[in-house]
Amino acid sequence: MTVRAILFDAYGTLFDVYSIGALAERFYPGKGALLAELWRDKQIQYSQLRTLCSTYKPFWEITQDALVFACRKLGLELDLEAQNTMMGQYAKLQAFPENLASLRQLKEGGMKMAILSNGNPEMLAAAVQNAGMDGLFSHVLSADAVRKFKTAPEAYQLGTDMLGMAARDILFVSSNGWDICGASWFGYKTFWVNRAGAPMEELGVTPSGQARLLSDLPAFIDAEARRGASR
Ligand code: LAC
Repeated sequence: MTVRAILFDAYGTLFDVYSIGALAERFYPGKGALLAELWRDKQIQYSQLRTLCSTYKPFWEITQDALVFACRKLGLELDLEAQNTMMGQYAKLQAFPENLASLRQLKEGGMKMAILSNGNPEMLAAAVQNAGMDGLFSHVLSADAVRKFKTAPEAYQLGTDMLGMAARDILFVSSNGWDICGASWFGYKTFWVNRAGAPMEELGVTPSGQARLLSDLPAFIDAEARRGASR
């Protein structure tokens, strides 16, 4: 297969959602990492529940709701200062260190690239700008346009519609196992950035490729192009 375009998931893939653990640690010593993890899990769970039950709410609000719940669950008092500071940090999450150079390398190689994320447009725009990624993506697509989060097929379809290509010609890149499953079921080729060395979800899906870091992606694309050419 030759990859004609790449769609990137945002949170967890381009932007480090667990980096917020260090900030959380300042407010809740000894609990920062735990809070960051539970916050993320609840955020994803709420997005899935709200899609299943057609009760859409923008991802920013879901993120806030998940923070409130996670603190309550861990018995942590969330005052306004802690809430505003952590949500403010979420708006400008750090990118994983290798990402910017890898994206630039792909862009210089002529690859068409876009983001397809559950994040609402405002939070995505802020994150892209803060990470110095302006100009690298032809589109920043948000599930907000269909008011259904991934893994709803309607959300994945934003990518094929906007790029005007068949799903099989597009590589979907995500660090989230559930997202790799949803994108594969939709018909995309998939590349799993498995930073944690996690086991694949037991859902009968095998990604087209996987690696520990996004910096392994350019080599995968080149190998696919060579394989395609020799066929
Ligand atoms: C995204 C999250 C949920 O869609 O990873 O960016």
